[in-house]
Amino acid sequence: MGRPRLVVFSGAGVSAESGLKTFRDADGLWEEYRIEDVATPDAWRRDPAKVLHFYDLRRAQVLAAQPNAAHRAIAGLERWFHVDVVTQNIDDLHERAGSSRVLHLHGEILLARSTADASVVVPINGPTLRLGDRCPLGSQLRPHIVWFGEQVPMMDRAAELVQQADILVVVGTSLQVYPAASLVHHLSRKADMHLVDPQDPPADMGRATHWKQKAVEGVPALADHLMRISGTPPRGAS
Ligand code: OAD
Repeated sequence: MGRPRLVVFSGAGVSAESGLKTFRDADGLWEEYRIEDVATPDAWRRDPAKVLHFYDLRRAQVLAAQPNAAHRAIAGLERWFHVDVVTQNIDDLHERAGSSRVLHLHGEILLARSTADASVVVPINGPTLRLGDRCPLGSQLRPHIVWFGEQVPMMDRAAELVQQADILVVVGTSLQVYPAASLVHHLSRKADMHLVDPQDPPADMGRATHWKQKAVEGVPALADHLMRISGTPPRGAS
């Protein structure tokens, strides 16, 4: 028998203690900026320089940030479980902490993509993406981000992972943004769900065990609990 399958579904709260702002908390990014000015296809058509600047600031902060105890605890779970991370975050802190399977539902800040062909994706060297930066096909590059009003191409794959999970850990997301938030409804009835968030969850999350803590405290505590009940020896143990 293989290892139990564990899916971590993360949002901005997991990176908050790394110094990256969340979106909807009191001092969140959507207090400072209007979504329709910086995170929609219309905003890009109207004022691409403004959109690029918004994501340049995000990229500079991600490059300066370090993974925290929550990212590390999630990576550590791979010794006991088959772990897939499905994140709404555009930072690379799960990867830098050592998680080996990370699916980014809303894109990745360190990548750019062609405005002529969405399948052409290239790394951004350094903090800035400029007007005039072109893809190999010759068209303007845009941030590799899923904007409001756009399809979420990885959604089907993410739903499949949640369906197959024995345990779902939801951490640091307000579950306000769809379709991402609907992922929790793909979990099978016999699977366990845990939620780590200092705020109370939406009413329909009643079946989850709520660890009402910041991610840096709640995720290591939950990881300890899951390792103890896993019933399997850690990978690498003799
Ligand atoms: P939100 O800002 O909506 O929610 C952040 C969640 O993290 C809230 O539930 C907070 O209570 C929780 N939180 C705050 N500090 C925390 C901490 N230290 N530890 C743990 N949890 C903490 O962020 P998301 O749910 O990730 O999409 O937002 C979803 C999407 O909306 C984002 O991916 C982004 C945004 O608009 C796009 O830009 C497409």
